[in-house]
Amino acid sequence: MDRIRITGGNELHGIIPISGAKNAALPLMIASLLTDDTLTLENVPHLADVEQLIRILGNHGADISVNGRRERQGESYARTIHFTCRNIVDTTAPYELVSKMRASFWVIGPLLAREGRARVSLPGGCAIGTRPVDLFIEGLAALGANIEIDSGYINATAPIGGLIGARYVFPKVSVGATHVMMMAATLANGTTTIGNAAREPEVVDLANCLNAMGAKITGAGTSTITIDGVTSLSGARHRVLPDRIETGTYAMAVAMTGGDVILEGTDASLLDTALEAIRRAGAEITPTETGIRVYRNGGGIKPVDVVTDPFPGFPTDLQAQFMGLMTRSSGVSHITETIFENRFMHVQELARLGARITLSGQTAKIEGVPRLKGAPVMATDLRASVSLVIAGLVAEGDTMVSRVYHLDRGFERLEEKLTRCGAIVERVTD
Ligand code: EPZ
Repeated sequence: MDRIRITGGNELHGIIPISGAKNAALPLMIASLLTDDTLTLENVPHLADVEQLIRILGNHGADISVNGRRERQGESYARTIHFTCRNIVDTTAPYELVSKMRASFWVIGPLLAREGRARVSLPGGCAIGTRPVDLFIEGLAALGANIEIDSGYINATAPIGGLIGARYVFPKVSVGATHVMMMAATLANGTTTIGNAAREPEVVDLANCLNAMGAKITGAGTSTITIDGVTSLSGARHRVLPDRIETGTYAMAVAMTGGDVILEGTDASLLDTALEAIRRAGAEITPTETGIRVYRNGGGIKPVDVVTDPFPGFPTDLQAQFMGLMTRSSGVSHITETIFENRFMHVQELARLGARITLSGQTAKIEGVPRLKGAPVMATDLRASVSLVIAGLVAEGDTMVSRVYHLDRGFERLEEKLTRCGAIVERVTD
């Protein structure tokens, strides 16, 4: 199993290309099940989760071709992938596939809308929390679906004639349930209004793509989304938006090590709240023509408190990385996690590097220390693992991160991007 060795101590200088967003690419790929025409996605990141979803969509009947020529944009390589699902050959998403990646559960929306039925395995819990699916069930039921749970599967059927537009207000904000409800409603009869919808940029990206396919969606990016159902969707060509979590991660890495880096091909407006927190911690951040410049020279890292929240709040997907940064601050900071109940597994691992963190309920208290010291640590989930990389970049000596398959789910060519900016990061294959 691969590991990553980081030898701490170097500043970061140079250019880091930002990839397409994993969390936009996944729902966009799933949207290809809504049409028998070809959906072409540009700027698709090369990640383990994307490859897994390609297998899942193939199982439903999608014909998928990856553009062999990698599209060069600055120093970045992105892929263009064509998805054509002339016929849905299987409306079942089996446990073996859904259990590997929670987002694959989202196929329930398109399958139900296009075929009138879906049998999808319950995804189960995962390392960061129990992650129930009640909101999906209630939302689809509001569109008229009959839903039964049987032997770990959800069996959903649409009324004869198809799903029926309705008004539904989510009792809690959910990114995934918003994606699914929006996709399902595109082919429903009549108008659907989703209240308390997730406002994440990835929801807006999906709505833009669906509209390019002929859907009639307004309000994405606000908490009320309206969808006028259409009878069919066509193909389209769509570019996946930049990864705001990757952007924030590297911005925090630069804030941690010091240095001067251009994050290329991204957009500061995707992560205002997180960038503001990094600024308050002492880094200078300025938008450039092609992305964002992050630099910190001289001054130390200041303690900053953050609370995670749905967009436009501070993203839970950057919480672990910010904690990594705060381990070296000059004082005491607090980080409160409000989205997932068990998203603090990095605390024990950061402690192995010398961090001083105490947990009280959903709040971590971080007492900054003047130095961290390299040690063997274990990745526990995607974002937790990259917080260990950020800490390792300034730890004295070597930090060896094991179980890096977690990193490969969501960070494209991480070691290459960091090494090019002067870090000493090496993948070790046993
Ligand atoms: C998406 O997950 C992201 N995944 C997550 O990123 C991200 O952490 C999360 O949104 C929050 O921003 C993808 O986009 C592929 P939710 P999702 O439904 O949609 C509860 C990463 O590291 N909930 O918005 O699964 C849920 O338990 C990943 O890239 C219910 O109670 O998250 C959580 O507490 C990890 N019932 C809260 O809502 C439901 O039916 C928000 O979850 C659904 C969700």
